[in-house]
Amino acid sequence: EKGGHDYFMLKEIEEQPEALTNTLRGHFSGGGVVLDEQRISEQDFRDINKVFVVACGTAYHSGLLAKYAIEHWCRIPVEVELASEFRYRDPVLGRDTLVVAISQSGETADTLEAVRHARTQHARVLAISNTNGSQIPRESDAVLYTHAGPEIGVAATKTFLSQIAANYLVGLALAQARGTKYADELEHEFSELAAMPEAVRSVLDTVPRVRDLATRMCEAKAVLFLGRHVGYPVALEGALKLKELAYMHAEGFAAGELKHGPIALIEDGLPVVVQMPSVKGNSHLHAKLVSNIREIQARGARTIVIAEEGDEVVRPFADELVEIPAVPTLLQPLVSTVPLQVLAAEIARHRGFDVDKPRNLAKSVTVE
Ligand code: M6R
Repeated sequence: EKGGHDYFMLKEIEEQPEALTNTLRGHFSGGGVVLDEQRISEQDFRDINKVFVVACGTAYHSGLLAKYAIEHWCRIPVEVELASEFRYRDPVLGRDTLVVAISQSGETADTLEAVRHARTQHARVLAISNTNGSQIPRESDAVLYTHAGPEIGVAATKTFLSQIAANYLVGLALAQARGTKYADELEHEFSELAAMPEAVRSVLDTVPRVRDLATRMCEAKAVLFLGRHVGYPVALEGALKLKELAYMHAEGFAAGELKHGPIALIEDGLPVVVQMPSVKGNSHLHAKLVSNIREIQARGARTIVIAEEGDEVVRPFADELVEIPAVPTLLQPLVSTVPLQVLAAEIARHRGFDVDKPRNLAKSVTVE
């Protein structure tokens, strides 16, 4: 059942191209995005002028990425908030607000309560879920299902990539309704998304390299993850995976914050995983990350760099280099997350832990 793998999570990591294909299938036709359920009128959808994304854990990290796409494409402000925080403050919501609730299980207590709160405030709620007929979609006004298939591993992998794709589809649906993108631009963005399963398939070639790297990292006291722009949520996700599977101290930081505190943590031999932006697509940020790497290397860090194939600029500064295919900036997390999933799972395996069932965790958190 594990498809010849030692644990389900590796099988699920390898299923990611297919999970993405299935999530995209049927959700774009006739030049526009098609949701699975849509009970928000066209007029109301067009009038949305504020978006809140609420979720927990890995789903929250996918939500952080939604902000980059939706603000860029639709020119409406997007706030991303942990569901457990959102529901206990007094967020400003109204009929023109769209609350996007992301939950793989569709049953997470905090996300469900956030949905209920939003509805009492007359906000429109759109659910992104992997579970047909679960509670969060049932209580929402619109639904987009990720068709990633069942995920056995407690750590989210293929559902995370599918959530990112689903978020971007919601961004395109809003852009379409608001007229901030022409039909040919929507087609173009969708075709870039549709090319991602192939890119993810090719990043799976890095698995043996990352497995080998993991054998050399399992004794580390802590691991830091640095990223910027869309690489920042990826850094947070990489750190979460390592915490939950390998029980190691791991933190994700926005690279621009390094000098505001985290650099004090750098000591001899500390592994730091760095997400490099595209060398061509994002050259100004690329240069900043290179100087961050130099700063931490000078203080003894061991740099594990995730960079685009052909990025010769960063190569001399990488103690370890993992190459990923070059893709459009917003889509980079779909490929750059994959080596971090493998890294966490393999470190956990070397440390003798149950990768599919980490201690103290449940697949679906239905209590607060
Ligand atoms: O089912 P949900 O997407 O609502 O679950 C949210 C989190 O509990 C979940 O993503 C959790 O963080 C995973 N264990 C991460 O791997």
